[in-house]
Amino acid sequence: MRSRSLRGAVVAAGLSVLVGAQPALAAPAGHGEPRYSAGAPSVGDPYFPDEGNGGFDVLHYDVAFDYEPATRHMVATTTITALATQDLDRFDLDFRGPEISALLVGKHPASFRRDGQELVVTPRPKLKSGEQFTVVVKYAGTPPVITDPDESIEGWVPTDDGVFVPGEPQGSPAWLPGSDHPTDKATFTFHATVPEGLTAVGNGQLLSQKTVGGRTTFVWDSTEPMATYLATVTIGKFQVARSATPSGIPIYTAVDPQLASQSAATVARIPDIIEYFGSLFGPYPFASAGAIIDRAPDVGYALESQTKPIFSSSPSLNTMAHEIAHQWYGDSVSLSRWSDIWLNEGFATYAQWMWTEHNGGATTQQTFNSASNYGRAATSAFWQTVTTDPGPVDMFGSVPYNRGAMTLHALRGKIGDTAFFQLLKQWATAHRYGNVSTADFIGEAQSVSGMDLTNFFDVWLVQKGKPATW
Ligand code: ARG
Ligand code: ZN
Repeated sequence: MRSRSLRGAVVAAGLSVLVGAQPALAAPAGHGEPRYSAGAPSVGDPYFPDEGNGGFDVLHYDVAFDYEPATRHMVATTTITALATQDLDRFDLDFRGPEISALLVGKHPASFRRDGQELVVTPRPKLKSGEQFTVVVKYAGTPPVITDPDESIEGWVPTDDGVFVPGEPQGSPAWLPGSDHPTDKATFTFHATVPEGLTAVGNGQLLSQKTVGGRTTFVWDSTEPMATYLATVTIGKFQVARSATPSGIPIYTAVDPQLASQSAATVARIPDIIEYFGSLFGPYPFASAGAIIDRAPDVGYALESQTKPIFSSSPSLNTMAHEIAHQWYGDSVSLSRWSDIWLNEGFATYAQWMWTEHNGGATTQQTFNSASNYGRAATSAFWQTVTTDPGPVDMFGSVPYNRGAMTLHALRGKIGDTAFFQLLKQWATAHRYGNVSTADFIGEAQSVSGMDLTNFFDVWLVQKGKPATW
């Protein structure tokens, strides 16, 4: 009961943040006496009403932990560097991890309480708008596996030899406190200590790897802004290989030895895929690339973790292309709210269709026409989901992927190849590291093509039913 009414309050408080209004009690920043109030407990995303927080912006996460797979025990210290955006006497973090032993804001121990995924912090001294501050959270225990609305699992998922760590759409609070919504991107550093012989693979570049007394510490640095759901430190026995793309982006791949031979041909194509997408979408957006191929059969899906997509089994070439395409669409150009998930999945799926054609397989038109796409009967339930609002249960269902990709193919036919490819490139470069909405995309499609596309997008994205004319 209690949690129900709290949830309602969170949504009400958060929505004002999404539309940019000031929380009722917040003072105008920058003049007069500070007027302290609590930061909003979420950003009010209707799909995940507790995700994110108001009152501050996270700039950087430093996540340092020691993990022992045999006992599943983690001992961790996460240091968050953030900027207050209002005068704060209280703020929330999202955290579903194990017991907290200490919490400091700056040098001062702060009182805190936990309520569901909210970690409510009372900083003393209070924080002034514009102030940069750190939050140090020390915790130890076993991070949880999190179950999603579609019953898939994510978070901290133990494997035979370590742990598999996917975070979309709500897994990162399993192992790190923070602001878990794609609108609050930050840079990350990970210091992961594991038993010698295992590899801890994080996003970004490996800064160092040192073994002392039978334990190895891997330091990974992610220097471009990253949404929390794209963070991973996946641990296990891995065959590590390093290479580079033709344009010099370093590639680090970590493959479970049991999957090495069956994955080799796909892994070998990573540079070609990155080059091909670079030619279509503009330069690869990050300083490093790679992949993590692991055995996590209970997860059963892949995820576009930034710079290093993670695969829970040996991936097909198509799946590899899909996750690499997300580096542009989803990771670099990110959602403002989860209901627009087609901007991630439709784009990555269409990129996968284009890769298939480029690689000598079916043409995009053939894939569009196929039985899993436009070839579906008009009576199929598939056509009854609104593309821009699939709901949290079906956000990773076939509609955002397939109807999303069909929308792009139909748009290409409508505005022509020149405008379409200009639009894809502009979308990736103008919004690099930013956050976008469907309305932004429609606006840009219209300005690039010089056409009124209101009816087109209404038919494909908003209306139910199989599009007949557009
Ligand atoms: N974004 C992932 C992909 O590339 C799918 C993630 C699914 N996550 C989940 N919790 N079901 O398609
Ligand atoms: Zn995807």
